[in-house]
Amino acid sequence: MAGVLFHFKRLMPILGSVVKERETKVNESVEERTKNYRVLILGGTGRVGGSTAVALSKLSPDLQILVGGRNRVKGAAMANKLGEKSKFVEVNIDDVMALEATLNDVDLVVHSAGPFQQAGKCTVLEAAIRAKTAYVDVCDDTCYAWRAKSFCEKAAAANVPAITTGGIYPGVSNVMAAELVRAARDETKGNPERLRFSYYTAGSGGVGPTILATSFLLLGEEVVAYSKGEKVTLKPYSGVLNVDFGKGIRKRDVYLLNLPEVSSAHEVLGVPTVSARFGTAPFFWNWGMEAMAFLLPAEFLRDRIKVQQLVQLFDPLVRAVDAFAGERVSIRVDLECSNGRHTVGIFSHRRLSEAVGTATAAFALAILEGSTQPGVWFPEETEGIAVEAREILLNRAAEGTINFVMNKPPWMVETDPKELIQVGNYIYVDEVSRIQKREAPQIDNWNPCQLESTLCGFRQL
Ligand SMILES: NC(=O)c1ccc[n+]([C@@H]2O[C@H](COP(=O)([O-])OP(=O)(O)OC[C@H]3O[C@@H](n4cnc5c(N)ncnc54)[C@H](OP(=O)(O)O)[C@@H]3O)[C@@H](O)[C@H]2O)c1
Repeated sequence: MAGVLFHFKRLMPILGSVVKERETKVNESVEERTKNYRVLILGGTGRVGGSTAVALSKLSPDLQILVGGRNRVKGAAMANKLGEKSKFVEVNIDDVMALEATLNDVDLVVHSAGPFQQAGKCTVLEAAIRAKTAYVDVCDDTCYAWRAKSFCEKAAAANVPAITTGGIYPGVSNVMAAELVRAARDETKGNPERLRFSYYTAGSGGVGPTILATSFLLLGEEVVAYSKGEKVTLKPYSGVLNVDFGKGIRKRDVYLLNLPEVSSAHEVLGVPTVSARFGTAPFFWNWGMEAMAFLLPAEFLRDRIKVQQLVQLFDPLVRAVDAFAGERVSIRVDLECSNGRHTVGIFSHRRLSEAVGTATAAFALAILEGSTQPGVWFPEETEGIAVEAREILLNRAAEGTINFVMNKPPWMVETDPKELIQVGNYIYVDEVSRIQKREAPQIDNWNPCQLESTLCGFRQL
């Protein structure tokens, strides 16, 4: 095993050349490229970690997956499910010495032992840097994410590639935003002006009590958004918008939440106006969240112990409602540019608990394949996921989706009927009572690709 371990860790100083080497081996299967690497999944007994372990073992069956957690019974059951190459490793992330000893023996650690809210320290990342082990977390907390980012130089000096805020949202949504911005800058002269992340999850999304605690803790945080380059703070679960998530999800109400991709996208992608919203179903959960944000003091909602008690109270009810609410999940990212160009990415899946694992596994594989430079990166940074690796990451993450589209104008992905009429030199788009008009180029037989690029620049009148 030491040989295998040495293999990946030895490669870290020359990751740039590893990327090049990978490019020449495009025909090599993912199994070949990541064969025999050892991956520790912290929180592997939980829903997100367990789902990641299953997805990783499917994507790359030769990986050795170690399920890390405190519960031996749950851990052993998960390791059995994964097959004979896997085993359970008892590890408490608060026991720094034991954690570091475990990390010394693996090539990559996937940290999903949340909640990340008010965690105080980046214990796992710091231990990974000392152990020279590659790292990815599924953090969804702004403070934690920027604290992790502050270790960038230390990680770079230790030749450790690390990604913070991997996962589905944040994670895949950041990469979608980065790709929309890249396409806008490459294809037109318009400047990206407004980026909007909208998320929908039915019920609790079938994930664990930790994510319930995460949602409650987020209600205690003021929402940070950016408006024309200025940082603004807003009330949590306010600013409702009715967003069309397209096929399989349709229109849903979404509310402002304090999510890390807002500040990272603003900083990294240089978009002046950025916000993130989240909504759930059935509708009364949204009302409940709104009421909690309004009625409960912020200090109460920021207290992890009190929130855990609240979770214990709500969990049986949440599970009962989940049984009929399902766990559909959808991401919609909207990018609007100065020249009126408006493009959208949509990612929808029937089961959040499955999609989050597939998405996290896609990040883990990207790191093992050498797409991440030494340092700590957000997913939208090119050092985090190289531009040429984004498409493969998105395609892997999109496995099992019911709808995955990128870089389309909204009218092509939304569920409302659209009428397209050409009259003389103009195309008219009737978006249910809002008529838009644009000069028509020479379009032969309404080729969808030509139409798409023509209509990309539509601004609502
Ligand atoms: N970025 C994204 O896309 C995304 C999406 C969804 C969720 N998340 C985040 O993912 C995290 C996990 O959610 P979940 O639904 O999987 O929660 P979960 O089912 O409750 O699982 C949490 C896991 O963490 C482990 N854990 C907790 N404290 C630990 C400690 N001190 N040492 C070792 N293991 C510990 C638990 O193990 P034990 O068995 O030892 O208790 C459990 O396996 C949450 O923080 C959530 O916010 C991120």
